[in-house]
Amino acid sequence: MGMQISPSVLNANLADLAAEVRRVGKAADWIHLDVMDNHFVPNLTFGLPVVESLLKQIDVPADCHLMIADPDRWAPGFAEAGAGSVTFHVEAARRPLTVAKDIRAAGARVGVGVKPGTDLSVIEALIPSIDMILVMTVEPGFGGQAFMAELLPKIQRARRMADSADVDIWVQVDGGIGPDTIEQCAAAGADVFVAGSAVYRAADPALMVEQLRASAENAARP
Ligand code: DX5
Ligand code: ZN
Repeated sequence: MGMQISPSVLNANLADLAAEVRRVGKAADWIHLDVMDNHFVPNLTFGLPVVESLLKQIDVPADCHLMIADPDRWAPGFAEAGAGSVTFHVEAARRPLTVAKDIRAAGARVGVGVKPGTDLSVIEALIPSIDMILVMTVEPGFGGQAFMAELLPKIQRARRMADSADVDIWVQVDGGIGPDTIEQCAAAGADVFVAGSAVYRAADPALMVEQLRASAENAARP
């Protein structure tokens, strides 16, 4: 798998999600849907009913990022609704291994997210059961924040952990990713890039997706 771009609709027009997805549709590998519950993060977006409705109207696979408490209860439902990838936060899960297994059993790829202050050692035991590590590069909750460059070594460590597995595990970065930051992340070993404001504030969002992918590919080349 090459470099993948997953535009986040968080800062797009949330009252017309299907149209916003179409603005990047063919260029994007995924569409990143930030589910927030006002408990795990201090912000509230949309939940499963909205995601279910949206999935009926779009063709690009959904990359659901669950910033919610109790993913043990809620995460499998997003996979059952047809999301291609479901990422839960390790900090929020009571039984992370069970959550991972339940998401997989429901037919989606499994991502596990870590906040900036969470050490990657807490996901070590999950590695055989996941498909993606999400290294948050801002505090989760809001779009448009500045990329935390001090997390670059953590991206490198995530890449080493992913490579230690027998299966292909992706390393996703989310928060402050754009033309100025994507290359350092790709060089550090990330291969799935969430970009919200960089894409949706661009005059041509689909073109920005192509440009971001090209930058990541260039930076990753040895
Ligand atoms: C933040 C969300 C991100 C957000 C990224 O908690 O998880 O997906 O949309 O937005 P930008 O790219 O603007 O930092
Ligand atoms: Zn996100």
